[in-house]
Amino acid sequence: MKRENFGSQFGAIMAMTGSAVGLGNLWRFPYMVGVYGGAAFVLVYIVMVFLLCLPILNSEMIAGRRSQTNAFNAFRVLAPGSRWKWVGALMVFTPLVVLSYYSVIGGWSLEYLYKAVCFDFTAMAHTRQELDGIFGSFISSVWAPIIGHTVFLAVTALIVMLGVKKGIESFGKVMMPLLFFLVILIAVRSATLPGAGEGFAYLFKPDFSKITPAVCAAALGQGFFSLSVGFGIMLTYASYMDRQAGIGKSSVLIAVSDTLFALIASCAIMPAVFSFGLSPEAGPSLLFEVLPFIFSQMPLGGVVALLFFVALLVAALTSSISILEVGVAYLVEEKHYSRRKASLVIFAGTWLLGVLCSLSFGPLSDVRIFGDILFDFLDKFTSNILMTSGALLIVIFVGWKMKKDDVRNEFTNGGTLSASGRMFSPMYFIIRYLAPVAILVIMLSNLLS
Ligand code: PFF
Repeated sequence: MKRENFGSQFGAIMAMTGSAVGLGNLWRFPYMVGVYGGAAFVLVYIVMVFLLCLPILNSEMIAGRRSQTNAFNAFRVLAPGSRWKWVGALMVFTPLVVLSYYSVIGGWSLEYLYKAVCFDFTAMAHTRQELDGIFGSFISSVWAPIIGHTVFLAVTALIVMLGVKKGIESFGKVMMPLLFFLVILIAVRSATLPGAGEGFAYLFKPDFSKITPAVCAAALGQGFFSLSVGFGIMLTYASYMDRQAGIGKSSVLIAVSDTLFALIASCAIMPAVFSFGLSPEAGPSLLFEVLPFIFSQMPLGGVVALLFFVALLVAALTSSISILEVGVAYLVEEKHYSRRKASLVIFAGTWLLGVLCSLSFGPLSDVRIFGDILFDFLDKFTSNILMTSGALLIVIFVGWKMKKDDVRNEFTNGGTLSASGRMFSPMYFIIRYLAPVAILVIMLSNLLS
């Protein structure tokens, strides 16, 4: 069977950027900035992305394009007969766990889009407490979040069923530029609010004393989540990439756009938070509790809210599509399922786990795993253990198991890309030495804290 590929270099980059840019940029990054001390976190994050996450992204792409196959089989093809195939299994399994709770947050975005369509935030002129109450009672209720999760996951599965070129590539090509435009528009609106300057200072004037090991660990974890590395996702997407495409150039473009999105999203949120005298440290609820309040108070807030939640949903969808694709590619290529059947099977499994996650805010909140509700447990388990182990194993694989010449050939397209040729040595050094040590240190600090 001939494998489907991306139709163009632009389409491939847009699909990968679509995977990277998601709730991680618009929801997770701004609240992490608030929790970990503003500009200090932003600065450390940027260093982590370009120093460590980018070489890890390159490693995944090298393994993916070299093997031309799904995340599970890639390790069998590149290291036949070895135990590395179990890493492939981990890479197929991790995204499915992520998808189950990612889709729950996708469902919340859908609900908030619905509220925005009804001009709910402006019409009722809510107080902050009222909006907090609305969010709290919404996520702890039974049916509304499950319906949101179901619709979100079903749309994801439908797009994946359409295939790589028709579904994933066309969706990304149209939606990613639109999303970029929307977020900039909201940031401009936010920047022109009175007192917005304080928000910008909070984001861009670092207090160096706030740089601690915990901030570095959080920034690296956020980098993995945001760039979708360590999950086999970029590996799978890179396996659909054209032989002529430059991996180095594509990965830099992906990392730059992902970081820009996160920064612009923060510029949309933080100045408004400061302008209304709110606390930036609200945590995961920042987006869903603080923003609707801001929208309810700002001129033209209803329209801004509508645009924002459309953007959030699009971003979440382009990412969830990529997460589902890893499992689908595995089932289609290894188990010979049709794309349709593969999408449906994964839909069913992740839907069930997602329902349990959603209920863990309400009726199942007493069920604790190591003291956490299921949603929090899965989030921590994937980001602290599965994702970091995935990233660690992939750099060890590319840095130590693959032949250096093969890695160089894949990265420089057989020596034809001169800029990549110059980048190769420092990048290979990071993949082989710096990244494994840094990831191990972060894993240990996560386990000990
Ligand atoms: N990187 C995406 C984001 O920032 O939202 C989404 C994502 C994809 C998260 C894949 C996790 C994952 F496994």
